[in-house]
Amino acid sequence: MKKFFDPIKLQKWSNEQRLAGKKIALVPTMGALHDGHISLIKAAKKKGADEIIVSIFVNPVQFGPNEDYDAYPRTEKEDAKKCSEAGATAIFFPTPQNMYLENHSVYVNEEILSSGFCGAKRPGHFRGVCTVVAKLFNITHPHIAVFGQKDFQQAAVICQMVRDLNFDTKIIIAPIVREKSGLAMSSRNNYLSPEEREKALCLSKSLQCAKTIIAEKKEISWKSLKTKISAIIEKAGLKVDYVEAANAKTLTPLMKVKKGDVILLAAFCGKTRLIDNAIM
Ligand code: PAJ
Repeated sequence: MKKFFDPIKLQKWSNEQRLAGKKIALVPTMGALHDGHISLIKAAKKKGADEIIVSIFVNPVQFGPNEDYDAYPRTEKEDAKKCSEAGATAIFFPTPQNMYLENHSVYVNEEILSSGFCGAKRPGHFRGVCTVVAKLFNITHPHIAVFGQKDFQQAAVICQMVRDLNFDTKIIIAPIVREKSGLAMSSRNNYLSPEEREKALCLSKSLQCAKTIIAEKKEISWKSLKTKISAIIEKAGLKVDYVEAANAKTLTPLMKVKKGDVILLAAFCGKTRLIDNAIM
């Protein structure tokens, strides 16, 4: 597995691979890799990629001033080993200094899909995500790029960016990988104490409960379902950041929920902000 630190060197190598007829896949991550990330590498392999580039970069631009940029887990050695074992052929570890040169002044802003949910709660977050992903696309020119449904809104925003800015990259969205307990895997789960981990199960449980209700009732008023979901989360001692229902394609908020719609949520478990979602 090749290791790159310098965007220019990776860009040169990636261009050479493309010219040689190789199919290139990009898997963007912030590291502290778990089986959710590994599933994206495997999805790229399944799609027939010859070169699978995993980027590992805790992107400062997508963190708010009071968020966990400094504390974010950094486990580069273990990450490199996991990537290699999963079949990645290149790994990219840039530094903030070589990703954002002095006086960096160009940013990518998606203006519709990023306005609600996490975008409303984390101003500037998706501007940071779109900017770094656009840069990674320009550095690697991938034929495909794999993202996780775990970050449902992020995947939708990236698809919109690719469409609206004519990126020549096909976006693949891989399903959420969960622990046996139902907890969605996340690098931020590293922050949780054993007790908090137990409490955090209420998130997937609340979504599962919503699924069961919708399977029975076909369509239900969002107000009553939202009350039920919030109650499950609050009863476990978490603080709801948002719980919303939306059309899975347009992310438009809904008053009535039915099969095929998505429920998105974020909640604080102690100091840790966790997100989850499910398509009903
Ligand atoms: P990060 O949180 O490291 O996630 C990297 C990718 O892994 C994202 O596409 C995310 O949706 C996916 N992922 C995380 N947990 C998952 C799980 N349990 N199952 C399936 N996929 C999962 O998302 C980011 O980093 C950043 O915003 C990034 C896109 C890299 C831009 O900086």
